[in-house]
Amino acid sequence: MSKETKADKPWGGRFSEPTDAFVERFTASVEFDKRLYHQDINGSVAHAKMLRKTGILSEDDVDQIIAGLEKIRQEIEQGIFTWSVALEDVHMNIESALTKNIGVIGKKLHTGRSRNDQVATDIKLYLRDEIDVIGSIITQLQSALLNLADAEAETIMPGFTHLQPAQPVTFGHHLMAWYEMLNRDYDRLMDCRKRLNQSPLGAAALAGTSYPIDREFTAAELNFDAPTRNSLDSVSDRDFVIEFAAFASMLLTHMSRFSEELILWTSSQFDFIDLPDRFCTGSSIMPQKKNPDVPELVRGKTGRVIGHLVALLSLMKSQPLAYNKDNQEDKEPLFDLVDTVKDCLQAYCGMLPAIKAKRENMREAALKGHGTATDLADYLVKKGLAFRDAHEAVGKSVAYAIEQDKDLSELSLSDLQKFAESIEDDVFHCLTLEGSVNARDHLGGTAPVQVRKAVAVGKSELQQRP
Ligand code: ARG
Repeated sequence: MSKETKADKPWGGRFSEPTDAFVERFTASVEFDKRLYHQDINGSVAHAKMLRKTGILSEDDVDQIIAGLEKIRQEIEQGIFTWSVALEDVHMNIESALTKNIGVIGKKLHTGRSRNDQVATDIKLYLRDEIDVIGSIITQLQSALLNLADAEAETIMPGFTHLQPAQPVTFGHHLMAWYEMLNRDYDRLMDCRKRLNQSPLGAAALAGTSYPIDREFTAAELNFDAPTRNSLDSVSDRDFVIEFAAFASMLLTHMSRFSEELILWTSSQFDFIDLPDRFCTGSSIMPQKKNPDVPELVRGKTGRVIGHLVALLSLMKSQPLAYNKDNQEDKEPLFDLVDTVKDCLQAYCGMLPAIKAKRENMREAALKGHGTATDLADYLVKKGLAFRDAHEAVGKSVAYAIEQDKDLSELSLSDLQKFAESIEDDVFHCLTLEGSVNARDHLGGTAPVQVRKAVAVGKSELQQRP
């Protein structure tokens, strides 16, 4: 970073003394918004082409401007561009460099534009690109889930409510629940993309511009669906960043739930799965430890993602129209959101296919806790009892089994008949784990047949994505 004098500031004209050194640092954003250089140059090139098309600037001027901008892009990419804090932000750094390189013509680029519509455009372009990347990583993760669910379609584990064993479910079905959550997150992300994809360029500082600009042209050049419809709104609102943060918070909340389950399942108390060593770390004092740090960190990072959502909402909530410098505070949370979401998804894409289900342990756990009690009640209903009476009878037989230190499925026929006369020896068919899961054979049910159907639907759904 180099130092500049007041004379170098693009807005220096009406000022009689240099900016206070502290204020210069305090108001500058270039340290973080230089990350937008690519989008800033793309936006400037589109703007320059529009100035040429409308005759506001000459062919020759625009050719020089575009060549100059492309040279700056190269310098930045090669790491030889000098960024200056005195030039405040990415926009003025690039514009000043352009003027340094091509002379007075560079000063014409900002005709009919303001940093206010420029920055709103840059953020939208940046976020749109990142949304596409994030969308494809979600798809990759969902596809890994489909493969694992298919492989584990018949694996039986306890299903829980209140973290108490409730009914047997298939592991594949459990994984497909995660898939559904991600499916809605993907939809939310695409919905956010759809709404942000309108071009603010031409809104200028806040009221529009007196030049005969062509907003449809710049919108089309930058692949926006249309120009925005109100200049004040265009430069001031960051609702699209907030929507993205809301998407990210929901996604990470889901991933935090997945993580919590993975962490529980790897503990020796559950011992349902094994995570590969390369996704775990050890303890510096306890030699036996293998810790699930990756899911723990995903769970932990959810806190900062939700924090960014709250920060962005708070940033926006009291701002009068139109642009306020407050909005400069949108970028650090946004960049961190993008980085964090991508990292967490990547971690899962690597880890998930390597999860080993400990099928025997899952099965053994499913055999504890009288998980087929509901099946016995359903059996009695099919034999003619009212559901509430069946519930009562089975409740008593469970209490008896507990007394005997047995699982409900281990009681003898004569024991069971003490609680309901209509029980016959076909009861053992439904008291088994397989009988229980296979019986739930309807859309959204846990039967292996249904899991395979859901996987097939998922596969064709993912194929239709861009
Ligand atoms: N760095 C500023 C931001 O991030 C760019 C817009 C500045 N506009 C202004 N009128 N000061 O919002």
